[in-house]
Amino acid sequence: MTDEQYYTLIHPYEDAMEMILTRLGVLNHTTYENEDLQPIHSITSRIKEKNSIENKLKKKNASTSVHDAKTLLQDIAGVRVICFFERDIRHLAGCLKKQSDLIIIKEKDYIATPKPNGYRSYHLITGVPIYYTDGMEYYPVEIQFRTISMDFWAAMEHRICYKNQPFNEIEMKSAFLQYSEILDKMEKSFEVYSENSI
Ligand code: GTP
Ligand code: MG
Repeated sequence: MTDEQYYTLIHPYEDAMEMILTRLGVLNHTTYENEDLQPIHSITSRIKEKNSIENKLKKKNASTSVHDAKTLLQDIAGVRVICFFERDIRHLAGCLKKQSDLIIIKEKDYIATPKPNGYRSYHLITGVPIYYTDGMEYYPVEIQFRTISMDFWAAMEHRICYKNQPFNEIEMKSAFLQYSEILDKMEKSFEVYSENSI
């Protein structure tokens, strides 16, 4: 894929991502009556870089063409929404799912069923309609909803375990799993305090 092809490829993904960010912004200030209790702590977003697209395609034994990128990758546009509590995630995801022009391409609930390593997060791949002069096409945007504690755990796990082979893998794995459960308990206690203070 040439640089020019890459920039042409990502253009509609950028537009789709902007639409999702705008909708999340609207939901953030309209969810709770009290404006001080916004459900979103922070949002980050990114368009996958050319190198990462090509590496992921190679891992899938596909060609690094624009066609394969479009048909095989659903995370060219990615948004990470960091909420305070699980109920905020459920609320926001529920609202987005009800927006009738969006389609749901894939849903992975690693909160209801955490990954064996302890990873918790709610992933939604939405199809966002992009209208051209002569038609419409859906573009996928991967939205990862996490609470602050889920994000803290995932960032640490990514930094410590990703690529590096931890020096004591078995001990490390069991520690991460345990911390994931401890963080979940802490978050749920904070949630009870938060409900009491509303
Ligand atoms: P990818 O090929 O990595 O996109 O994974 P997938 O297609 O199986 O999808 P999945 O929904 O499981 O993961 C998508 C993204 O979630 C990853 O790219 C990471 O950003 C994040 N993720 C998934 N599992 C883990 C994990 O065990 N640890 C951390 N830190 N992040 C994870
Ligand atoms: Mg990914």
